[in-house]
Formats: sequence, structure tokens, C-alpha cells
Amino acid sequence: MELTVAITGASGTIYAYRTLQLLAASGAVKTVNLIMSSVVPIVAQVEMGANLKDADTKKINEWLGLDEDSKLIRYWRLDNFAAKPSSGSNKQEGMIIVPCSMGTIGSIASGAGTNLIHRAADVTLKEGRKLVIVPRETPFSSIHLENMLKLSQAGARILPAAPGFYHRPKTIEELVDHLCFRILDQFDIPHSKKTQWTGEEVKAGE
Ligand SMILES: Cc1cc2nc3c(=O)[nH]c(=O)nc-3n(C[C@H](O)[C@H](O)[C@H](O)COP(=O)(O)O)c2cc1C
Repeated sequence: MELTVAITGASGTIYAYRTLQLLAASGAVKTVNLIMSSVVPIVAQVEMGANLKDADTKKINEWLGLDEDSKLIRYWRLDNFAAKPSSGSNKQEGMIIVPCSMGTIGSIASGAGTNLIHRAADVTLKEGRKLVIVPRETPFSSIHLENMLKLSQAGARILPAAPGFYHRPKTIEELVDHLCFRILDQFDIPHSKKTQWTGEEVKAGE
């Protein structure tokens, strides 16, 4: 399977970090076309202390703890409109934008994108492939909500960065993974399923 993963400048770089690690661990994905917006190095520095400035495939592999000769990640520059995900003729399963800023959502919803992330999302929708968008903002304005409705009606799957608590997470990692598992589920990509709800007989007040 081949996928495109885009990281934007919304809070929650850690969701992208874990999603990429889980994709690598799954063994189900051969190629991840990775794109990052220009704000990501700032957010990654603030939130994770990570240095993603002047990123390339080697630097991304180091960040994720992948082997330096791993062929999974193929990194594309944001201004490279000749990149693989820029064309519908490149057959792939779909695209994940995690986390997704309101700026990127607005650009895709307007159809007037200006960078490779916007273009790749536009291509994914026009080709009828799966586009999973993980928005992060709070609270949402009616502009944000309208843009997300528009994208949902155009076929995108809106999967908000809103992890559940029913698996009783004890660490931030468990909370993050719960959301990332839901992202992988959209493509039927295997994971540990540790947080999958299997049903329980619980009465209110117990
Ligand atoms: C530390 C940090 C956290 C941010 N968090 C959010 C956020 O949660 N949601 C959002 O829409 N924008 C957030 N922003 C603002 C975006 O980065 C900004 O709107 C940017 O223009 C988005 O561009 P991009 O979509 O190309 O990444 C944040 C910025 C910084 C520096």
C-alpha cells in the first residue's frame, strides 16, 4: 500500500509522529509520501523539542527511530508541485493530514490551494480516494465548521484530534495511540487493537 501523510502546523505533532511509527510497524505500507508545512519545525520544537528544520528523508528517519536505510518514508518538499502526490496518475490508497490546521482546511475547502499539501488533498478528493483529516483547534468558529462540512460532503473523513478515555489511558502515549489507531482503522491497517471497544455490561452508577 502507498499513502501520503501530511503534517501541518496545528498543535499535536506527536499524533503525526506516532501515526508514522505505527504505519512503519504495521508492515502493511510500502511507501509513505511525507509532506510537512513550513510551520511544523516550530510546533515540533515547541511541543516535542524536535529539530525538523531543513528536513529530508534521513532526518525524518532519525526522528522516528527508523533504520537509516528504511525505504518507507519518501519526503517531498512543500513547494515541489512535481512531486508524486501532486498527480492523480500516481495510484495510491489515500492521504492522511495529521494534525490538520484550520488554515490548511480552509485552503483545501476553497479549492485554491497554494502548496503541495493542498494540491495532494485536492487530487485525493478528485480521484475519489480516501482523505482522512485530523483537525485540531478549540473552540471551532462557524468558518471552521463550515469548511469541515464542505470537506466531509466532498468525501473527506473528518477524524478530530479528540481521543476517547474508555480504555482508561495512564500515559499521554496511550491517549495519543488511541487516536492514531483510529486513523489506521480508516485504511484497515493492522495495529495492536489494545483500545478497541468490545462491549461491556455496565449499568449507570456502577
Ligand atoms: C505552537 C503552535 C501551535 C498551533 N496550534 C494550532 C492549532 O491547534 N490549530 C490551528 O489551526 N493552528 C494552530 N497554529 C497556527 C498555525 O500553525 C498557523 O495558522 C499556520 O498558518 C498553519 O499553516 P499550515 O496549515 O500551512 O501548517 C499553531 C501554531 C503554533 C506555533
